[in-house]
Amino acid sequence: GPELFGTRPNSMGWDIEHAQTLTTVEHDRNVWRAHQWHAAPLLAGTAAPQPALTVDNPAVPADTPGQVRFASSADVETALSAATPWAADRATRAAVLNRAADLFEANYGELFALISREAGKSLPDAIAELREAVDFLRYYAANAPEAAPVGTFTCISPWNFPLAIFTGQVSAALATGNAVLAKPAEQTPLIAFRAVQLMLEAGVPATALQLLPGAGDVGAALTSDARVGGVAFTGSTETALKIRSAMAKHMAPGAPLIAETGGLNAMIVDSTALPEQAVQAVIESAFQSAGQRCSALRCLYVQEDIAPNLQKMLIGAMNTLTVGNPWDISTDVGPVIDEEAQSGIQTYIEAARAEGRVLHQLDTPSEGTFAQPTLLRVGSIKEMEREIFGPVLHLATFKAGELDQVIADINGTGYGLTFGLQTRIDDRVQHVTEAVHAGNIYVNRNQIGAIVGSQPFGGEGLSGTGPKAGGPNYLTRFTKRHAPAQAA
Ligand code: SER
Repeated sequence: GPELFGTRPNSMGWDIEHAQTLTTVEHDRNVWRAHQWHAAPLLAGTAAPQPALTVDNPAVPADTPGQVRFASSADVETALSAATPWAADRATRAAVLNRAADLFEANYGELFALISREAGKSLPDAIAELREAVDFLRYYAANAPEAAPVGTFTCISPWNFPLAIFTGQVSAALATGNAVLAKPAEQTPLIAFRAVQLMLEAGVPATALQLLPGAGDVGAALTSDARVGGVAFTGSTETALKIRSAMAKHMAPGAPLIAETGGLNAMIVDSTALPEQAVQAVIESAFQSAGQRCSALRCLYVQEDIAPNLQKMLIGAMNTLTVGNPWDISTDVGPVIDEEAQSGIQTYIEAARAEGRVLHQLDTPSEGTFAQPTLLRVGSIKEMEREIFGPVLHLATFKAGELDQVIADINGTGYGLTFGLQTRIDDRVQHVTEAVHAGNIYVNRNQIGAIVGSQPFGGEGLSGTGPKAGGPNYLTRFTKRHAPAQAA
């Protein structure tokens, strides 16, 4: 029941709560197995048009979870002129957002099914995602500052957390009283549509929350209009730069852009690390969500003297993973989001194969947009030009005296999202965590799955603007800044 969720630590593996949920989930899966959802622009005072485009299930080509109608430029105009900041007081807004959290919890069977069939996520990933969405609603409801909203906020969210990041952005903007224009990723409009329906049902006014499903053209229109006061964006660094420049041309000076973007995340494992702990942390960090997390581990640095053993253990652990349809409860690694992602990852792996750098690979189902979980050898993180957003892990080694050079190379990428360290030397923890530039640093554990409220999430450099989501400074960016009050 609902008490399974809420603002509590979110374990990334299976635990007793997950096991208790399973019987219910099995039952719900039969209810939602063939359900057809739909999505369309949700505009204040306008009936939703009939959907027209088919939405894919990345794991099963024959399954279509529903249909969507993308927003037209006329829809964008309608939404912009109807958008009205949410005039209710802070306590009322908080009560409505908490009611939305209750509705998310009450509808968990449907949401798990939708996350699986539209986004290809495994059940543990779907459970973690729903918990995170609920946590965002409750945390922002509880922590909204007493300050004036910016006005109208555009929220552009990615497909890799189609419920959690979507809900996080939207609830932050609503908790602070803004009008929201939400543009979900073109691959996952159905989940966003259900989330908005539930928020409207909870009592968010239709003029304060409008949904505009679509591709990049819709996002571009919503970030280049003087009526928009600020933008929250999670996605690629490249798109964030385009938004920054569109905002500079069209929006008021100082309009806030809150961007969470890519990463080239590393983990360092030294020769004192506990190998079993390190291997589990690496497997979770690199392969959960099929590696489609901005926080995911991309480059693993292992100290040379333990590298042969660790590599052997890592390959053994990879071999225990089940790659398949996330609808099956035993699946650990599902598909990547679409054909474009799949072929980009395959091309990258083939180039590495031609150089003899493939150390290990798992097989995948032949149908569906799967990418093979792959371990690649790499000399250094400097050889990795870009983030490969999938289940591809790079393995590099370093000698005892090279630690500072490794840190310099990691910092030299310009990204700074997550970083992991496995060591049993206390001084080294202090030295390395002070020297590495990363928003979220994890020691002797995995480096994904930041928890709202206790692990604010966000990067520096090319990885984002801050402030961190799920942390105490995030909401103030959604408000008008006033000159600080004079000390009495
Ligand atoms: N917040 C997510 C995580 O920590 C982002 O990918 O894994």
